[in-house]
Amino acid sequence: MFSETAIKELEETKTRYPDSKAALLPALYIAQKEFGWLGTEAYEVISTTLGIPKATVRGVGTFYSMFKHKPMGRNLIRICTNVSCMLLGAERVVDFLRRQYGFENGSTTPDNRFSLVIMECIGACAMGPAMLVNDDLYGNLTEKTIEEIFSQYR
Ligand code: FES
Repeated sequence: MFSETAIKELEETKTRYPDSKAALLPALYIAQKEFGWLGTEAYEVISTTLGIPKATVRGVGTFYSMFKHKPMGRNLIRICTNVSCMLLGAERVVDFLRRQYGFENGSTTPDNRFSLVIMECIGACAMGPAMLVNDDLYGNLTEKTIEEIFSQYR
């Protein structure tokens, strides 16, 4: 259930834009911050608050890869396997993640510490293989740097 604080934040966000559709992305971020992911309740409350059809809210929420659609671990790893990263060793990195941590695409570690999502380009093609951990960008990944990076997240 949305907290009163989150509802206030949604309503205040709506007033900042001349058209409530423009408040949709910020509203989705508020919902994701509140729940950790976007589900039916989030879409319904945003739809009601902004006066936008629920199908539109869900359509926008499911279009963008920065929104989560199921409960995830405390830290979300998004790794790119598109062409540039693949040529620079992304498949080797994904194999390492599978062997070392048991990751499959969309999986979460048993301790709920990490979830992994394999993505297309994350805009860091020159520094592939690249990944995001939450909002932090890392490139030129190797097995050693991955372990160092993961050690920073609890
Ligand atoms: S191809 Fe991997 S970040 Fe662009």
